[in-house]
Amino acid sequence: MSEPSPQDSIASRVTEISRRFDEKIVTANLPVYRASTVLFDTLEQAYATGAAATAGEWHASSYGTAGTPTTFALMDALAEIEGRGHECRAAVMPSGLSAISVTLLAYLKTGDHMLMSDSVYGPARTFASGMLARMGVETTFFDPAIGAGIAQLMRPNTRIVYLESPGSYTFEIQDVPAICAVARSRGAISVIDNAWASPVFARPFDWGVDVSLLPLTKYWSGHADVLMGAAVVRKELWAPLWTAVRQTGTCVGGDDAFLILRGLRTVDVRMRRHQQTALQVAQWLEQRPEVASVLHPALQSHPGHALWRRDFSGSSGLFSFELDRERLLAPAAGQPALTASPAVDAQAEQRIARKLAALCEGRRFFRIGYSWGGYESLMVPGRISALRTTNPWVGGPLVRLHCGLEEPADLIADLQAGLEAMSQVS
Ligand SMILES: Cc1ncc(COP(=O)(O)O)c(C=O)c1O
Repeated sequence: MSEPSPQDSIASRVTEISRRFDEKIVTANLPVYRASTVLFDTLEQAYATGAAATAGEWHASSYGTAGTPTTFALMDALAEIEGRGHECRAAVMPSGLSAISVTLLAYLKTGDHMLMSDSVYGPARTFASGMLARMGVETTFFDPAIGAGIAQLMRPNTRIVYLESPGSYTFEIQDVPAICAVARSRGAISVIDNAWASPVFARPFDWGVDVSLLPLTKYWSGHADVLMGAAVVRKELWAPLWTAVRQTGTCVGGDDAFLILRGLRTVDVRMRRHQQTALQVAQWLEQRPEVASVLHPALQSHPGHALWRRDFSGSSGLFSFELDRERLLAPAAGQPALTASPAVDAQAEQRIARKLAALCEGRRFFRIGYSWGGYESLMVPGRISALRTTNPWVGGPLVRLHCGLEEPADLIADLQAGLEAMSQVS
């Protein structure tokens, strides 16, 4: 190789300079690798690494889509933390939803049957009824309270039992160990979306789960600034997952992987604060006359409280509350009561919509937004009627809250202002 000289063109020289790390400086955090291209000194090395990466050898990468030291560090961290006490591996994907869809593609084929809880995250359900159905995979949605009764729904071709506990918006707690035991005895794989509790408060592999899906976008990131997801699987199930990840070109960039690595340094302390604040807010809401029920598994009034106590070691910042429909529709002083008819129903729905707007709009801390798990508080009505088939929601209007890291008293004052604004709407 010839040496650089002052006569070199800038175009050539800029491809050579500043491409080596100074390994004498050890920083607290890993450097971020941003890479599409991986370089080799010899052809033999290039071919051998390519073959190892194609064969799925751990940490082998001949190209950025297979991984970099930054993404491998994150994958190892996730497998260790989510799978503690079990031999697991983790793959990272560009969103929580892509982790769901690629995982389902990895283990399902035409002619297979899937059992999915009726209370799962809406887009997971849409993927099952949409693309999976088009591929010839049939899905049956089951009552999240089914427990060991899932045995009655198992078919010879049931390949996956898909769980989420607590359920999205309605927060049902499932008897995950009982369901997983049935799935395993019938040769099916159990998959759980472990978004809510995160590994800080839930250990799905101890419950017998085979695959844990993590929307890293939520508590792992913790700052509402990065999208990512992961599938953590028992080691014996790794090969099909990694094949699906590689064949679909599913991968994440180094900067985003670094942000999740940064988030996981503080996830434990943040989760404990989210838990404390949400419980305080939930208990306050339970006392409010406008609220018919608070759907928070850590409250004794929650129907899944005993299961939650048995299986979880804590709760997060996310829960819903149900507004008292009758109170919302009670006639204002001097006004006649609404009596049943289709026109009156439409009027009633409009009144509820106006009241929900008064509750949610213009709050100081609880902003309107669909995500959660960040440092900030969020509020959104739960419009779930199209998302439930076996367990339609028959209660009053639902509002989902994410309690962020703000002072609990400020959040309560914010909600109080919202409830008061709601009561002013006729
Ligand atoms: C329970 C649950 N699972 C998965 C996801 C998907 O995560 P992402 O937004 O990263 O696609 C969400 C997003 O809101 C969620 O609430």
